[in-house]
Amino acid sequence: MSETRLKLAVQKKGRLTDKTLDLLRKCGIDFENGTDRLYVPARNFPIDLLFLRDDDIPEYVQDAVADIGVVGKNESVENRADVEYLKDLGYSRCKLMMAGPEKSSISTPVELDGKTIATSYPNLTKDFLASNGISCKVVEISGSVEISTSLGIADFICDLVSTGTTLRMNHLKPLFNVFESEAVLIGSKKNNDDPEKSSLIEELLKRMNSVQNAKNSKYLMMNMPNESLEKALEILPSLKSPTILPLADGNSSAVHAVIPSNQFWNIIEDLKSIGASGILLLPIDNIVL
Ligand code: PRP
Ligand code: ZN
Repeated sequence: MSETRLKLAVQKKGRLTDKTLDLLRKCGIDFENGTDRLYVPARNFPIDLLFLRDDDIPEYVQDAVADIGVVGKNESVENRADVEYLKDLGYSRCKLMMAGPEKSSISTPVELDGKTIATSYPNLTKDFLASNGISCKVVEISGSVEISTSLGIADFICDLVSTGTTLRMNHLKPLFNVFESEAVLIGSKKNNDDPEKSSLIEELLKRMNSVQNAKNSKYLMMNMPNESLEKALEILPSLKSPTILPLADGNSSAVHAVIPSNQFWNIIEDLKSIGASGILLLPIDNIVL
């Protein structure tokens, strides 16, 4: 039996942490609660979690200190990390945006020309300026970028926006999108030289795919009079053929189907009108296609 274990870097505390741990649990990977330790081995899968500052994760993965990592795409591209992009994870979406004082009347990027911009993302900011053919003074600040205009350090800021609360609280308004981000799984290029690590990563990706497949689906169970079964099948937006099981009463059947979550309320009245009863809607953790 192989002793190979994967080291997975996860943000210690922040916008990525909870959803990443939730994803791992849905992948059937069980580990102790609490992110106050640096290093947490999983109990039932050869993976060890390393809790790190998100800003450090791309470099640690690049240098193979961690084999894989979950990080914001913004952080990884900003760091120009030489890593492999294994998967978009679809959560912790946010935007890197140019923003300015509420009273600013700017409507095109060209009007930023010659101004001073404070940011924690100088590379992404410079990419944006270059692609718009403008030049600005870019001041790199590691935190609390949103107060730099009121301190007179900069005219504009380029910062992450998720709910927009931070901008509003600082009397700033969003101006232009610079970069769209979400959580991504990255891997060290050295993994390619290690077949055992590669196959553990394959297994993890397979499980993550099954969680993603399940995310927008629900399992619908109901009882239906036999004479309505044909109509029920027409109404159900089922992903695959529903399961029909005869009930002991001889007149009705149990119908089980995987449906898109957002369709439930559209079809429920129609199903009831043809006699559906005992309707249950259950969450699904995994779908293996
Ligand atoms: C970002 C950003 C803002 C805030 C925006 O910081 O710098 O402060 O989130 O979010 P909102 O639009 O929901 O108010 P974050 O907490 O990610 O810290 P970090 O950049 O240091 O990782
Ligand atoms: Zn950070």
